[in-house]
Amino acid sequence: MCGIIGYIGNKNVTGVLIQGLKSLEYRGYDSSGIAIRNSKDLKIVKSVGKIVNLEEKVKNINGIYNVGIGHTRWATHGEVNEINCHPHNVNNVTLVHNGIIENFRELKRELEIIGYKFKSNTDSEVIAALIDSYNGDKYDALVYAQMKMRGSYALVIMFSDEKDCLYAMKKDSPLVVGIGKNENLVGSDVSIILPYTKKYIDIDDGEIVKITKNNVSVYNENGLISKNIQIANWSLDDAQKCGYEHFMLKEINDQKQLCIKLYDKFVSENNYSNEIPDISKYDNVDIVACGSAFFAASIGKYLIDNYICDGSIHVNVDVSSEYRYKKHFYNDKSLVIVLSQSGETADTLACLRMANSLNVDTLAIVNVPSSSIAKEAKMVMPMLAGPEIAVATTKGYFAQVLDLSLIVQKLAYVKGLISKNQKDELIRTFKRLNDIIDDLFNIDYSKIASKLFLKEHIYFIGRGLDYIVGLEASLKLKEISYIHSDVYQAGELKHGPIALINKNTPVFSIITNDEVMEKSLSNAIEAQSRGAKLYLLVTEEINVDNLKIEELICVPAVSDFYQSLINIIPFQFIAYEVAKMKGCDVDKPKNLAKSVTVE
Ligand code: AGP
Repeated sequence: MCGIIGYIGNKNVTGVLIQGLKSLEYRGYDSSGIAIRNSKDLKIVKSVGKIVNLEEKVKNINGIYNVGIGHTRWATHGEVNEINCHPHNVNNVTLVHNGIIENFRELKRELEIIGYKFKSNTDSEVIAALIDSYNGDKYDALVYAQMKMRGSYALVIMFSDEKDCLYAMKKDSPLVVGIGKNENLVGSDVSIILPYTKKYIDIDDGEIVKITKNNVSVYNENGLISKNIQIANWSLDDAQKCGYEHFMLKEINDQKQLCIKLYDKFVSENNYSNEIPDISKYDNVDIVACGSAFFAASIGKYLIDNYICDGSIHVNVDVSSEYRYKKHFYNDKSLVIVLSQSGETADTLACLRMANSLNVDTLAIVNVPSSSIAKEAKMVMPMLAGPEIAVATTKGYFAQVLDLSLIVQKLAYVKGLISKNQKDELIRTFKRLNDIIDDLFNIDYSKIASKLFLKEHIYFIGRGLDYIVGLEASLKLKEISYIHSDVYQAGELKHGPIALINKNTPVFSIITNDEVMEKSLSNAIEAQSRGAKLYLLVTEEINVDNLKIEELICVPAVSDFYQSLINIIPFQFIAYEVAKMKGCDVDKPKNLAKSVTVE
């Protein structure tokens, strides 16, 4: 996903823009650029590759520049090269864009007919020309562009003949304005404003913002409007590595503190607080998400199926990209729950909008309060995980599972399916969850990783919750170490996939459900007897003395409501260590973006 930033104030804008672009790196990008201006001139500098390349190019710029815009590009239209980099300039207009203009070809043809010539293959350059082509007031030019464009955009715009201000507007892509002292910022998310201010305003679709260093004016079709100033609940520290080698390692470790934050938020006087949505009035629930969030949704379904088994509720889970193209029956007892760390995943946002348009109740479990999903869902349950910078989610997934677990626990208690004693026990476990998991953060996972990092294929097997944990464990490994990995229900191995097992093939068997322990052990032995090297993750009471095991990880045994949270932690570390040993870019794996805002 692209990232955009604008600054106007008294500081050296080049430094502000470069720092801001670095805080947007986590969104994924392949090139970057800035445009800076003062009373005399406008400079545009672009670079393919990492932001340090751009930094190298701009360090020789002399003169005082205190207005500028910047962009990290994740190529959608046009290949990765400097011509397609933002900012794009067309005559009087210079801008940066995050989003996709669906009718840009049609607009480009119209503009070429009136004489515009384009240098790049991007939709963004067409926006600059479209705004430039309007003869009249700048505000009207932006309204004209809003009317002509179809698709998504967050734009920061500079006009050459208006040197002391920036303009911004958005539709379906995120945009916030940071309110500083004699300086203001605008951009894709709160992380870019944190070094200067915690005060920000959310810009909504259709609004146009005019930003000078001392004033921010927001307009909609009714003219000048007032907006609430919000306070970012993240510190700059939260968004920095805090001494860890990688953001991913920091964020894995953040999970301990996250248990405490979620407990304080969702438990009061030894009971489930009202902050946990009560979904007892619904009898038909769809949980929809992508990637790891979908695996978290699958944990939620497992818990509902197994703990709300009085026939009062039917739950379906689906990946967002499939869900919206299927037929659904809704009534006033239907609920669509969407899970999204970023709150900007296009497929998930589209499902939310579809449900909203059909007047179906919607609940978002989301981490970014200023995100589109957080703002458009009827109900929101926060994840409180703080900024997650690494592309591979860890604490985000953890928070999604824990939020869903609390919803199901509360639902079971409200329906009388768990007793007061059982509820008290679950809350006691929740209260000490950070202690329960603590030992898992003190294991040296590099020994296991050293046996895996050169492998071509690694398989995970498990039953029930352990299978779902295997899905997330396998994705973590794939997406940051690029090792091929797959997951099978343990009982399914013998129905085909076992043909893939060769001598020394690593097979991770996850066995923490003692109800199917014997069968799961048999499945592991089936693989081992065909040459597999067996890696086990088991709870303490499972006896594996008679097995020849390559590596054994023992985890505490707790209720199903928390077991999957415990089981995933070793796999987060193992994926991290394997990727590091392979020399991969742990925080920014190839081809991936932190938030997939394209469908
Ligand atoms: C997680 O490690 C992946 N990077 C990815 O699958 C992610 O979970 C998915 O894109 C959903 O993102 P969201 O939670 O921001 O919607």
